[in-house]
Amino acid sequence: MKKLWGGAFGERTDELVDRFGQSIETDLNFWQEDIIGSVAHARMLGACGIISQEEAQQLIDGLEKIHEQGPNYLRLDVEDVHTAIEMRLGELVGEVAGKLHTARSRNDQVATDTRLFVHNELLLVLDLVKKLQGLLLEKGDQYRSALMPGYTHQQRAQPITLGFHLMAHFWAFQRHGWRAERLFDLANYSPLGAAALAGSTFPIDRDMTSRELGFTAPIPNALDATSDRSYIMDALHLCALIMIDLSRVSQELILFSTREFGFLRLSDTVTTGSSIMPQKRNPDMAELIRGRTGRAIANWTTLATTMKALPLGYNRDTQEDKPPLFDSLRKVRDSIKLVHLMIESAEWDLEKMASSVRGDFSTATDLADFLATNGLPFRQAHELVGQVVRGCDAKGITLEDLTVETLRDIAPEVPAEALSVLQPENSVRRRESLGGPGPNALGAQIEHARRIYEVSGFPAIA
Ligand code: ARG
Repeated sequence: MKKLWGGAFGERTDELVDRFGQSIETDLNFWQEDIIGSVAHARMLGACGIISQEEAQQLIDGLEKIHEQGPNYLRLDVEDVHTAIEMRLGELVGEVAGKLHTARSRNDQVATDTRLFVHNELLLVLDLVKKLQGLLLEKGDQYRSALMPGYTHQQRAQPITLGFHLMAHFWAFQRHGWRAERLFDLANYSPLGAAALAGSTFPIDRDMTSRELGFTAPIPNALDATSDRSYIMDALHLCALIMIDLSRVSQELILFSTREFGFLRLSDTVTTGSSIMPQKRNPDMAELIRGRTGRAIANWTTLATTMKALPLGYNRDTQEDKPPLFDSLRKVRDSIKLVHLMIESAEWDLEKMASSVRGDFSTATDLADFLATNGLPFRQAHELVGQVVRGCDAKGITLEDLTVETLRDIAPEVPAEALSVLQPENSVRRRESLGGPGPNALGAQIEHARRIYEVSGFPAIA
């Protein structure tokens, strides 16, 4: 195997050592970032007079050519992508290629590459998050008054609307955007020029490469710059959190599309059949998202375990930061797209949802609220409504069936005007406190969400 080192070695390394240490296949994920980092480094070497301007230009031209040609021109029988690119550069520009690595180590190089990569990838993730939010906002608006049961403990609790429910998911994804912005700020510092661990004897300009690569500033300590992987753990954590929310949406899609619920039908484009039961429409994608969330969580744990108690300075252990990173990023991107597709193409059975709100006693709180509004302490009101519920049960009727007569029969203390609050539509209509599903409160929430959606800074790509 071709290597960037070996001068001091008398014997060839064992083949297994080569294979065990190789990372070229996974490294190819960030081949572009490696080139971009090298271009900045070469330009700086020229500007600082460490190599001549002509040599710098030759290196840059060569690197740009490699970029143009694409990764298929890179050899795979090498240790890593840094080696592959430097060797390709040698083929293109000759001996001067050997000057690119002046005042640089693969330790600061790989840290630079992965910081750039994480940044670029998270922007793509956020673009998808934002698109999903746009869809939730649109559907939230469309179904703002479509009645559905609201649950606690997976038991019918109080009537809400589908729009209100969808908007709850909107905010969860908004938080991921805010979280990511904080993470960008924290990670956007340049390790380049830290070299192996202790900087360089050459008069390098770290501010220049940092600026050119779009970082906020160079990382102040070279040892820290080559040792830190917390930005990857942050990214993995974000991916895990996004997957957790996607798995919760998925679980609802699975549940709501069962015949038992019948709230929605997932489209043919996102469901699968059974090889034995012809009638089946299986929500496999939602199940896989639910299932793969486990791995996204594990990916964070994997790297955290690698980093725990790792001494400062580059350690080869950190090569293992990349497979979980690539895995989580791919999963999260595919999963957001799939949830988008499932929600976009779902057919909601609004009648089924609305009718299932009836007869479930979910307006009992409204009755208690009504009595408390008229002066009865809420505890007593709660007790009294319990009596009404029991009375209905005994008569085999539901709250909506109550008439002036049956109500008087069960609980003479409850005034007849209370009957109006027992209709689910009225229950929702009256929940106008901030954040509630009432038409004005939900309208204001959707407006609020829309404003945030329109002005929020992410993603910073077209
Ligand atoms: N493949 C290595 C990694 O991902 C690149 C850095 C290698 N540095 C070294 N000193 N061997 O960490």
